[in-house]
Amino acid sequence: QTGMFTYDPGFTSTASCESQITYIDGDKGVLLYRGYPIEQLAEHGDFLETCYLLLEGELPTAAQKADFDYRITRHTMVHEQMARFFQGFRRDAHPMAVMVASIGAMSAFYHDSTDISDPHQRMIASMRMIAKVPTLAAMAYKYTIGQPFVYPLNSLDYTSNFLRMCFAVPAEEYKVNPVLSRALDRIFILHADHEQNASTSTVRLAGSSGANPFACIAAGTACLWGPAHGGANEAALKMLEEIGSVDNIPKYIAKAKDKNDPFRLMGFGHRVYKNYDPRAKIMQKTTHEVLNELGIKDDPLLDVAVELERIALSDEYFIEKKLYPNIDFYSGITLKAMGFPTSMFTVLFAVARTVGWIAQWKEMIEDPSQKIGRPRQLYTGSAQRDYPPIGRR
Ligand code: SDX
Repeated sequence: QTGMFTYDPGFTSTASCESQITYIDGDKGVLLYRGYPIEQLAEHGDFLETCYLLLEGELPTAAQKADFDYRITRHTMVHEQMARFFQGFRRDAHPMAVMVASIGAMSAFYHDSTDISDPHQRMIASMRMIAKVPTLAAMAYKYTIGQPFVYPLNSLDYTSNFLRMCFAVPAEEYKVNPVLSRALDRIFILHADHEQNASTSTVRLAGSSGANPFACIAAGTACLWGPAHGGANEAALKMLEEIGSVDNIPKYIAKAKDKNDPFRLMGFGHRVYKNYDPRAKIMQKTTHEVLNELGIKDDPLLDVAVELERIALSDEYFIEKKLYPNIDFYSGITLKAMGFPTSMFTVLFAVARTVGWIAQWKEMIEDPSQKIGRPRQLYTGSAQRDYPPIGRR
């Protein structure tokens, strides 16, 4: 109690919401999209099937899937003026900075899908973002490496189209490697949604004010960039590179355990999972598949990662605090092997998470009881006081 204010100890702000989209059991390491285990979706389906499931609540029939794929491919090109928009950035801009800006700028180019009260416009905005965010991501990459933009080729599947837009150059034929495309498609499935994580909560809060969907997804993209969240895949790879060899692991384990050292093992720990992140297991398997396909026999970074995981999981600090590898621990090794620079890792996370953000935004907007989000606080500042003249301060 300070001054005239008394705190109500019973005041708690549990910022939670109801949703039917994704279920996580953090203790058991379970992740379900609309009730389907992530392991089965990653094994048997493709990313656009997962997009349909997250948006519509059911797996598509063959006809529904064909129609959905067709509708998405009809929206993959971006307004030609957006190409000029990119010219405003420095070449060394971080691609995530470009993504935050260009996704937000979509509301300046696609006025006919910003009225959130119109279900048709909501659907068009959703299609446009799922279809165009990969194109913008590829453009962000090409711009930072000084190569010409590559237009989408709609005869390719979603992920092959994205790989071609990133890695094709006009001077040469480009053939998509189907094994790498399938692996990246699976990685997109793993990253598609994850309940009320920081970036999804950001999208919901922005959407609750009635902001247009492009602005909401731009807000989520900005939040995802943080190293404690989606930026962890970039940070984890940099950490593995800094550790360099298995001999250095004990030094970094000690730093991670030192309360006075801000260093944390990037790619380890989770707000919800107190068991192994089910996505990390699938990610590790995919890493081995990609390295085998590329003929990379012994990747020193993978050796460090596997040994770091082994040591950490047998250390009482990590066991007691229930810290396990999360999805970001192995993803960077895979993406680097595929040819992506570390600066693109979180961009790829954003490409995949766009559908989760949209599905969660749509669920909130279509809930007639939803109101503007307004978290409260526990005030711990000064009690009311009178203004002193400057001479008496
Ligand atoms: C993602 O929310 C989501 O769903 C996110 C995500 C998604 O799909 O959207 O899953 C994606 O963001 C995965 C997380 C990626 N971030 C990282 O890998 C960064 C490294 N990890 C952390 O910084 C950390 O684990 C967090 C941010 C993820 C969680 O931090 P918390 O909330 O502090 O974790 P906690 O409460 O479980 O921590 C328990 C203890 C704490 O110590 P004490 O205060 O009890 O003494 O473990 C410590 C933490 O300091 N701890 C770590 C650690 N993570 C937590 N110690 C060393 N290394 C770590 N990585």
